[in-house]
Amino acid sequence: MTESGEQQLGPTGRPLRIYPDPAPLQSHGPARIISMVNQKGGVGKTTSTINLGAALAEAGRKVLLVDFDPQGALSAGFGINPHELDLTVYNVMMDRKVDIRDVIQTTEFENIDLLPANIDLSAAEVQLVNEVAREQVLSSALRKVAADYDVILIDCQPSLGLLTVNALTASDGVIIPLICEFFALRAVALLVDSIDKVQDRLNPRLQIDGVVATMFDSRTLHSKEVLARIMDAFGDKVFDTVIKRTIKFPDATVSAEPILTYATNHPGADAYRQLARELIARGGAR
Ligand SMILES: Nc1ncnc2c1ncn2[C@@H]1O[C@H](COP(=O)(O)OP(=O)(O)O)[C@@H](O)[C@H]1O
Ligand SMILES: [Mg+2]
Repeated sequence: MTESGEQQLGPTGRPLRIYPDPAPLQSHGPARIISMVNQKGGVGKTTSTINLGAALAEAGRKVLLVDFDPQGALSAGFGINPHELDLTVYNVMMDRKVDIRDVIQTTEFENIDLLPANIDLSAAEVQLVNEVAREQVLSSALRKVAADYDVILIDCQPSLGLLTVNALTASDGVIIPLICEFFALRAVALLVDSIDKVQDRLNPRLQIDGVVATMFDSRTLHSKEVLARIMDAFGDKVFDTVIKRTIKFPDATVSAEPILTYATNHPGADAYRQLARELIARGGAR
């Protein structure tokens, strides 16, 4: 409330809600698995995976981040050179003799482990076509370690192909990062359609946890208009938490760490902490 008694509104036009600090967990696992999906590139999937993961880890959650993009940006975001890796998520999926635990790497950040990827993964799309239960391969692999974590976040590649279908089949929930630009809304119907199909045919427990508006610029009418249209399209599914555009995110990427450690007091870091609290409050994570 402001002094005049009016309620303060957030960028979504809804009253600003305060989400409580999540209660510490007494025990860990089994993980809730969430895919970060949008078939457009450059919308904030990887940035959101890194920083939502870091915020959940900061809240004491054990987090596994899965790089599921042959570009390996998530792996690079933790200082790993994807080209130098012998074993990645690709080997976990394609070779049953490879133990996922031998491929998962610890990071220098407490409570964050990483299943890395590199360009090898680009071959999986074609090779999987001949596999038995080709949509379930990632799901079976992650099942082996789900008990060790509270949350598993899968950073998907920008496509709706078989790899993304594998991610959706392995998941309990989907978070859709949507950039506050007009082009962003065009492809969303197709994305929602794909999620519906996977839910219907392969994974009945799959649900859309929420849509997070990214790269919002409060100074532009354009950003506000796009956010209003995102609200029209998704209503309650839109997280109150809106991620603003700031150069600190690319800066943190260059220094290969989450913004939560790179600039821990920056509003961008607080935004992802708020997103983590909101996700937990909505039941999207333990
Ligand atoms: N809120 C933000 N403000 C400014 N730049 C951002 C923000 N979020 C992400 N970026 C930058 O935008 C680019 C694309 O983001 P990224 O997370 O890699 O998208 P995606 O994984 O969907 O391709 C990266 O250079 C990233 O650093
Ligand atoms: Mg990415």
